[in-house]
Amino acid sequence: MKRILSGVQPSGKIHLGNYLGAIRQHIEMQNKFECFLFIADLHALTTVRDAKIMRENTLNLALDYLALGLDPEKTIFFKQSDVPEHCELAWIFDCITPMGFLERAHAWKDAQAKGKKDTTVGLFNYPILMAADILLYQPDVIPVGQDQKQHVEISRDTALNFNKHFGETFKLPEPYIKENVATVRGTDGVNKMSKSYGNVIEIFAEEKVLQKQVMSIVTDSTPIESPKDPKKCTVFHLYECVAMSTEITNLKKKYEAGGFGYGDAKKELLKKLLEYFGPARKKRIELQKNLRYVDEVLEKGATNARKIASATMAKVRRKIGTR
Ligand code: ADP
Ligand code: TRP
Repeated sequence: MKRILSGVQPSGKIHLGNYLGAIRQHIEMQNKFECFLFIADLHALTTVRDAKIMRENTLNLALDYLALGLDPEKTIFFKQSDVPEHCELAWIFDCITPMGFLERAHAWKDAQAKGKKDTTVGLFNYPILMAADILLYQPDVIPVGQDQKQHVEISRDTALNFNKHFGETFKLPEPYIKENVATVRGTDGVNKMSKSYGNVIEIFAEEKVLQKQVMSIVTDSTPIESPKDPKKCTVFHLYECVAMSTEITNLKKKYEAGGFGYGDAKKELLKKLLEYFGPARKKRIELQKNLRYVDEVLEKGATNARKIASATMAKVRRKIGTR
């Protein structure tokens, strides 16, 4: 059975882009693959510098995944920092990675281009920790959003580089990017949906907040009575991601017929989102009443993950000669 692995940072509330671009695939795949999924808290440390927020975000993310259908019997679900081998392997990779290789990474180049003064060694090194996250478990496939493609490529190059120096050790992982949701657009109608742009629809937000976020989607100024092009509309783009094909066809007809405003379309989208995420929203409230269960899931996940990670590290230590 093929092995898949992915991680998500506990860096804030999850949004529709995260769900469609990554989380939905993680949950669907657990029925067909051997799955590893972790909360990348050490990666989040590049932006979250408050212990209370880190704990809250981590718990919230675990609750989100469990509510959305992650089954801990099928997926090894754990917290990155509970498996110290991630950092050990990252250091070993650091020692064989040329600086210039990481200087070309998008996230670092973007930070430089924006002239960010508070960039850190951690941010520069982010892709190497990610390569360690991946290669420790020797997975076949890494399901991520489009923006993580380069990071998966860096992990492949890191595997090749290590193998070249120390002999065949790591197999090369493949990214898996689902095409139609590779980049979900945000409520500003321009940028990809992202916490950092503040253009998100938070799937577990209170109904009022969700409504506000949906109603804030930027549309053009075509008058109500005129026909509209659904392809150009962010409301339609988001609707398409969660609705069934008959519902999509119906909404498309309403757009093209005219007499149907963007406000109406937003109401349909809100209704659809509440329906689509209804069961998960309910389940999350239930899970919140039993936080001990969430801790137990992550503890058990870490124990299982460590078995694999420590076996890989034993091999790596022999290869590099520290054992
Ligand atoms: P954000 O940009 O909001 O900080 P993250 O970087 O934490 O999101 O992304 C978590 C996962 O969700 C990654 O696999 C990423 O590729 C995916 N993802 C994030 N935003 C989108 C989007 N707008 N469309 C598709 N996938 C996305
Ligand atoms: N960098 C990823 C993100 O921001 C999170 C992540 C960390 C990850 N380690 C990983 C994803 C390993 C896949 C595999 O979304």
